[in-house]
Amino acid sequence: MMNEEIPNLTAFDQAALDQAFAAVEHQARNDAAALDNVEALEAFRLRWLGRKQGLLNEISSRWLKAAPSEAKKPVGERFKILKELVERLLDESSGTGPSDAALAAEAIDITLPGTRRLTGAEHPITRTLNEITSVFAALGYSVGVGPEVETDFYNFESMNFPPGHPARDTQDTLVISNQDRRPLRDRLLLRTHTSPVQMRTMETQPPPVRIIIPGKVHRNDAQDATHSPIFHQVEGLCVDTNITFSDLKGTLDHAMKALFGSAVKTRFFPSFFPFTEPSADVQISCIFCGGKGCRKCKDSGWIELLGCGMVDPAVFRFAAEKQPAYDPKKISGFAFGMGVERIAMMKYGISEIGQFYAGDMRFLSQFS
Ligand code: PHE
Repeated sequence: MMNEEIPNLTAFDQAALDQAFAAVEHQARNDAAALDNVEALEAFRLRWLGRKQGLLNEISSRWLKAAPSEAKKPVGERFKILKELVERLLDESSGTGPSDAALAAEAIDITLPGTRRLTGAEHPITRTLNEITSVFAALGYSVGVGPEVETDFYNFESMNFPPGHPARDTQDTLVISNQDRRPLRDRLLLRTHTSPVQMRTMETQPPPVRIIIPGKVHRNDAQDATHSPIFHQVEGLCVDTNITFSDLKGTLDHAMKALFGSAVKTRFFPSFFPFTEPSADVQISCIFCGGKGCRKCKDSGWIELLGCGMVDPAVFRFAAEKQPAYDPKKISGFAFGMGVERIAMMKYGISEIGQFYAGDMRFLSQFS
C-alpha cells in the first residue's frame, strides 16, 4: 500500500518536487479532516509519523535519500515543511479533541457515587458485652475470663450444687462423652454459666476482688425466639470486708441506669441460686412503656433481667481450700450474672435471638 502511495520520483526539478509534495500535503490535509476520535487520531499518527512504516519515513527514503546531491537541499526543505505540517495537523486535531460521541463513550461521570468500601462493625453481642464491661470497669472492676470447657467441680460442685442435687436440673448440661472412668468432679462439660470463673478467680487471688467476667456458655435448650443453646453471660463478683446487700443493690441499680438510661428503676425479687444466699432476680422498669404496662412486660411494668445475691458461705469455704483468706466469718461479697443476648435484644429492639448468629448482612449492617 505504502509503496504505491509514495511513488519514486523520476525528476528532481523544482516543478516536479512542488507537484510531488503538494500531492502528499493534500493527502495529509484530507486525512486530518476526517479525524473525529482518539483511535483515528492514533491511526493518523502511525500512518504519517510511524517510525518504520510511516509515510514520512517512506518519503524520506524514497525522495530524500534517493535525491541526487544537488537536489538534496530543496527536497530537504520541502520535507521539513511537510513534516511540520503533519505535526501541526496532528496537534490541531488533538486540540479540537475527539468527537462528542467518542467523548461520551469514554467519559467518567464524576457525579456517580464512588465504590463504597464496607467497614467492619462490632457485632451487637460484642458491643453489648463491651458496654457492660466498661460500666463495671469504671467502678474499678477488672476483667477476667475462664475456659468454656469446664469441669463438673468448677461448674457445679464448687458453686454449691452437690452431686445429684436437683438444682443441677435447672441448667440442662451438655457433657463431653466417654468420661465415665473419671471421678465426677473431673468430668468435662460445656459450662452452663460463667459462675465457675468466680471460683477460679478466688483460688488465684486473695480478697479484695472486684471482677467482671464476660463469656460464652452452653445449655441443652431448644432454640426458640428467645433461647439459644449457645449464649453469652457477664458475671460479676465483689468480695471484701463488710460488703452488704446494699452494696449489691447500689451497684446494680447504677449499672442498669448506665445501660438503659437514668430513668430506669430497679427492684429486687426473692429468688434462688445455690451459690448465693440470699438470692434475688433484678427487674427493671419496662423500658418500652416506662412502667405503665405493655405487651413487652406482659402488663406488669417490670422486666426481669439478671440474677444476683450474696456469695453463699459454702462457696467461700471451697475457695478457702486454696486461699484461706476467704473465711466467711471475715469477708463477704456479692455476685451477679446477666444474659448478654437478652440485654442486647432489649437495647436494640430485636425479637429473634437467632438473628445474632445467622450472619445475615442485612441485620448486621444496621450496627455499623
Ligand atoms: N449463674 C446464674 C445463671 O446462670 C446467674 C447468677 C450469677 C446468679 C451470679 C447469681 C449470681 O443463671
